[in-house]
Amino acid sequence: MPEDARPNQTGHESGIHRTSSQSSDQSPATRSRIGRRAACVERGAIVLRAEHEPVRDRFIEALASYDSPTALHSSRVAQFSYRLAEAAGLPRHQVEELILAGYLHDLGKIDIPVSILAKPGRLDADEWIIVKRHPEIGANLLAEAHPEMGDVAEAILAHHERPDGLGYPRAVRGEAIPAGGRVLAIADVFDAITTPRVYRPGTADVEQARQYLHSQRGKQFDGDLVDIFLALEGLPAPGPGGNS
Ligand SMILES: [Fe+2]
Repeated sequence: MPEDARPNQTGHESGIHRTSSQSSDQSPATRSRIGRRAACVERGAIVLRAEHEPVRDRFIEALASYDSPTALHSSRVAQFSYRLAEAAGLPRHQVEELILAGYLHDLGKIDIPVSILAKPGRLDADEWIIVKRHPEIGANLLAEAHPEMGDVAEAILAHHERPDGLGYPRAVRGEAIPAGGRVLAIADVFDAITTPRVYRPGTADVEQARQYLHSQRGKQFDGDLVDIFLALEGLPAPGPGGNS
């Protein structure tokens, strides 16, 4: 990775190993960081399991410090994942895990150079190889810090897998993809294609996004879960920019 593309705000230095209660100094930088985290959290007005809250706050603060658009995107993915998981009738504990997984699904981008994350236009082949590491990086960060959250880490690892086997990082097919990963994939892409990107100024409206999801039933997405998602009432309007 190019050295000049890796600012000092790595996960370790921007709060990943520090709880919010330890952020007691009130320097402008700290207030700004807390403000960014609060903005991301407020957007996701959904209830986390109590023990998940500090985990979410700790990691989302680090991600917001490094790449605020991705943190905002993640809060919307948490909301969509929650709604889809609940409508799909997943067990309560899995619904709760998927809220956290939604927030943290792109956590691994904290180790991807900003020059790549924010690059206008298409990525070259080498840059794609780097970007495609983010599910594994994020899953490992969570699993190392919280070994008891293995199912959340598995969902994060699988959020770019596809039923047709063309996904990454493991290219597993169909129901070999953990259910959490299949839920996250739909929530992630729905938000991604309805939200402006630095590398894609034109965005789909909600109806276009619905049509895209339908066209990818059984290919990019689990068909049954797509049907459930498209049946949800009142899918929210597109949010502000973010990276996916
Ligand atoms: Fe991702």
